[in-house]
Amino acid sequence: MDRSDKPRVVLGVSGGIAAYKACELLRRLTESGHDVRVVPTGSALRFVGEPTWAALSGNPVTTGVWEDVHEVPHVRIGQEADLVVVAPATADTLARAAHGLADDLLTNTLLTARCPVVFAPAMHTEMWEHPATTENVATLRRRGAVVIEPAVGRLTGKDTGKGRLPDPGEIFEVCRRLLARGSAPGRDLAGRHVVVSAGGTREPLDPVRFLGNRSSGRQGYALARTAVARGARVTLVAANTSLPDPAGADVVPVGTAVQLREAVLKAAEDADAVVMAAAVADFRPARYAQGKIKKREGREPEPVALVRNPDVLAELSAARPRPGQVVVGFAAETDDVLANGRAKLARKGCDLLVVNEVGEDRTFGAEENEAVVLGSDGSETPVPHGPKEDLADTVWDKVVHMLNAG
Ligand code: CTP
Repeated sequence: MDRSDKPRVVLGVSGGIAAYKACELLRRLTESGHDVRVVPTGSALRFVGEPTWAALSGNPVTTGVWEDVHEVPHVRIGQEADLVVVAPATADTLARAAHGLADDLLTNTLLTARCPVVFAPAMHTEMWEHPATTENVATLRRRGAVVIEPAVGRLTGKDTGKGRLPDPGEIFEVCRRLLARGSAPGRDLAGRHVVVSAGGTREPLDPVRFLGNRSSGRQGYALARTAVARGARVTLVAANTSLPDPAGADVVPVGTAVQLREAVLKAAEDADAVVMAAAVADFRPARYAQGKIKKREGREPEPVALVRNPDVLAELSAARPRPGQVVVGFAAETDDVLANGRAKLARKGCDLLVVNEVGEDRTFGAEENEAVVLGSDGSETPVPHGPKEDLADTVWDKVVHMLNAG
């Protein structure tokens, strides 16, 4: 591909220790066919030097507005960008961006860009939680920028808390989705709180065994990731998944259906939409053996008695803890897919039901799937075979439509 055909991404880097992780983000962006112009702040260069950014991007690197003035870089770089991503975004850079300052090339670029803008903040917890930062982030979000919530974990030094730069691979996913949606900013979930459940519950029989299912959580994670990219605050209730946390989502790990119910209902209290993508066990063993169940020579095993689990989707659909809340269910069916889906939609009382056909080698764990989204208004939207993110975006399109109509 000719360089001029490639989507243009500006990678803003500000002065935090996490600047070194932006090298990985840069590598992913260039390797996936983007023309990346790195615009570091002066202090970012104290952490990672200019030659590294230039070599990895294949483009010139400047921090100020006084180099190559004849090319008017302080205006051109922002105008030509298809996406600007600032990673890491320090408290200082967020403040300068929120106040519209233009004292270096990065802030000039942010003022001239009309494409989607993503900030991936990284700083100490105290700085992130300071009212000044909170207000700056709210201002940027109100204006349409995607500000990814920092991750929780080890910070510089010995302390831990909220403020880590999310995994570069996950920041890359946010960028990729925003670029895939074209220049029209896909931030139609800004200001909304959405809850997504993902994965499969495990119902313990004894300390080493459980009844489980084959759900990988990929569809739920795709829903969380796409909702972040569209500007939502996302709570992801994750049952037994082993996928990296989607950047910017608040992940609540759970094990059993009962734990999942508690986490989903709590998060749903102020949610605009709840999407139940998790495979929740309908039954659990009636009895939990405190010690490992042993085989006994010459004796048949005891049958496992089961009891019903609460139906979280049906409960939520009936309760609607917040007026106008949109509730979405998923149905995995093996036969009579559409007829069973319609019946299930009515039975559960949700607004939308995503029906897909499953089998041993279909859908579970795969990167792609196909489905039909059924609406309680009688609508039927087929989603052709494709990435789980495409299905996720179709679901959010419908959710946004319902929220805006309601
Ligand atoms: N679900 C739930 N709580 C349960 C079981 C399922 O909230 N105890 C939700 C799932 O998250 C999914 C939807 O209900 O969104 C459909 O689940 P599925 O297992 O396919 O449907 P069932 O109600 O189990 O119906 P059937 O057994 O007839 O397939």
